[in-house]
Amino acid sequence: MSAGALAQGYPTRPITMIVPFAAGGPTDVIARIVGDHMSRTLGQQVVVENVAGAGGTTGIIRGAQAAPDGYTIMMGHMGTHGAAPALYPGLKYDPAKSFDPIGLAAGTPIVIVARKDFPAADFKGFLDYAKQNDSKLNQAQAGVGSVSHSTGVLFNSVVGIKPTLVAYRGTGPALNDLMSGQVDFMTDQIVNVAPQISGGTIKAYAIATPERSPALPDVPTTKEAGLPGYEVSAWNAVFAPKGLPKDINAKLVEALRAALADSTTRKRLVDLGGVVPDASGQGPEALQKLVESEVARWTPVLKGAGAGN
Ligand code: MLT
Repeated sequence: MSAGALAQGYPTRPITMIVPFAAGGPTDVIARIVGDHMSRTLGQQVVVENVAGAGGTTGIIRGAQAAPDGYTIMMGHMGTHGAAPALYPGLKYDPAKSFDPIGLAAGTPIVIVARKDFPAADFKGFLDYAKQNDSKLNQAQAGVGSVSHSTGVLFNSVVGIKPTLVAYRGTGPALNDLMSGQVDFMTDQIVNVAPQISGGTIKAYAIATPERSPALPDVPTTKEAGLPGYEVSAWNAVFAPKGLPKDINAKLVEALRAALADSTTRKRLVDLGGVVPDASGQGPEALQKLVESEVARWTPVLKGAGAGN
């Protein structure tokens, strides 16, 4: 079928959005919030499919290899499209070349969180304790190349600690173990942890952004709390396999734009601490630039931090 014929009437059936991590984590949550509104604009359900493994790269490989017909899209992030190339030398996709970027969905500040009974009252106490006891600490992360892994490895390098890394299929399941005290701490995207911090089932020691988050006004920034060298944010974005017909591409871009313009959708993201991109940060061109700059930024950082597969 020709591209023109394919685009006609698109979409005529549900669209799969691959989430490359387990259900319930930050990528899944953002995909469901944004996908919900995109479904209404497109007139077909955007169905989330969780394809977890290898720090998100398993699902993204699947998405990159799908037919570029608009019926398979994916929610990537700073890990899959920024950090992964530095950590997987034979990675089967190029974040900047294997996709048609659709647009940024949300920025997600990183928060340093610990089990609720972690024996430190504040971030300084946490750092002191971690430096003295790092070999006893278990740090949760979502697999090599994930956001929690990259930002966690960077954190350990800045602080000078070597805890044991415990891998999960996403920080959704990792959070369950943090709440039950099976693991000690992690660096996670705010949208995964804000409700649990507010509810007191885990502790937040600091947020790694220049300003505090309106979603967690009591949590100090790393700079305020004494670790100015650790400032890092993540992001989630929608990608399609390379080669979408132009009209289908335009419909997906518009559906994401409409989702981010919708006040209810924005509120759902913002209430969790997500940062909705302004107009200049939305759309394919801005996302393409972001991916290129993130790959360039993370490659030396991760090599310098001694991260590897
Ligand atoms: C990550 O660490 O990359 C994310 O938290 C993964 C996820 O969405 O679970």
